[in-house]
Amino acid sequence: MNRITELFGIEYPIVQGGMVWCSGWRLAAAVSNAGGLGLLGAGSMHPETLQEHIGKMKTATDKPWGINIPLMYPEIDRLMKIVTDSGVRVVFTSAGSPKRFTPLLHEAGITVAHVVSSSTFARKCEEAGVDAVVAEGFEAGGHNGREETTTLALIPQVRRATTLPLIAAGGIGSGRAMMAAQALGAEGVQIGTLFALSSESSASEAFKRRCLSLNEGGTMLCLKKLAPTRLVKNSLYERIAEAESRGAGTDELREIMGRAASKRGIFEGDIETGELEIGQIASAVDEIRPVSLIMKQLLREYREAYGQLYAWPDTIN
Ligand SMILES: Cc1cc2nc3c(=O)[nH]c(=O)nc-3n(C[C@H](O)[C@H](O)[C@H](O)COP(=O)(O)O)c2cc1C
Repeated sequence: MNRITELFGIEYPIVQGGMVWCSGWRLAAAVSNAGGLGLLGAGSMHPETLQEHIGKMKTATDKPWGINIPLMYPEIDRLMKIVTDSGVRVVFTSAGSPKRFTPLLHEAGITVAHVVSSSTFARKCEEAGVDAVVAEGFEAGGHNGREETTTLALIPQVRRATTLPLIAAGGIGSGRAMMAAQALGAEGVQIGTLFALSSESSASEAFKRRCLSLNEGGTMLCLKKLAPTRLVKNSLYERIAEAESRGAGTDELREIMGRAASKRGIFEGDIETGELEIGQIASAVDEIRPVSLIMKQLLREYREAYGQLYAWPDTIN
């Protein structure tokens, strides 16, 4: 047991990050049933769709689970009402300030974690009264911090900045990486990319296959003027990169993105002109596997790494 497993009532301190177009009830339930914490990704769901997924979660698992809510969500008040009225126990908020909604969620008896990309934001989480903080580094898929702080640099600094239970995210794709996060001061991990490419992820087969084919350097952080996002290098990315290289403004970037680009790319499988969000660790993923196997491998690797840890011989003793 540690503070993260205790806070959420889970067996292993492994959180499946909420992910637009990937983390519906199938993925979240599979992770929770395997002893982690599954999160529904509300960011790509209409309020009614979320309600439907909440209902399905309740029949698919009797283990703890939660919802990720990006706070820039257009109908945020309606969404919060659904969440607070439906007996949800855990919410991970992201992309915004936790100040406004944390008290409301607490009033409904909900445990709140918030995702940050810097120590400054982590301190704000503490002020806002959240129960745990997720520190997400530059390697991560999805929206990202502007400052490009890597997980390796971020976690020890957030550890110093706050006493809150700390979950590390960004580039964690193995039991060894989990152990590294622990060594840096984290008490749990949030994993996105690995689960986005699992059998239970609702992303299209074409998206998953494209991500499996990536090499290191196959994704890049861009769109800093809008919302910094790590994207697969496809023809949409090339248009963005070209526009950004000549200093294009937000209007032009918005026009290039068009409407529903992430739905087109991730969910519908338009791998050339759609928006493909995935993390750097995708290049280490070789096959699409069920969550139960992914979880087993993470735990096996962690235990093996633990057994093999020793001080670098003859250098440190
Ligand atoms: C396809 C995709 C969509 C994502 N969507 C969201 C989201 O809606 N809200 C959020 O807070 N984080 C989102 N993320 C970030 C994940 O929750 C998680 O923090 C991140 O993927 C961890 O880093 P990793 O990809 O290296 O495992 C997304 C990530 C991916 C890969």
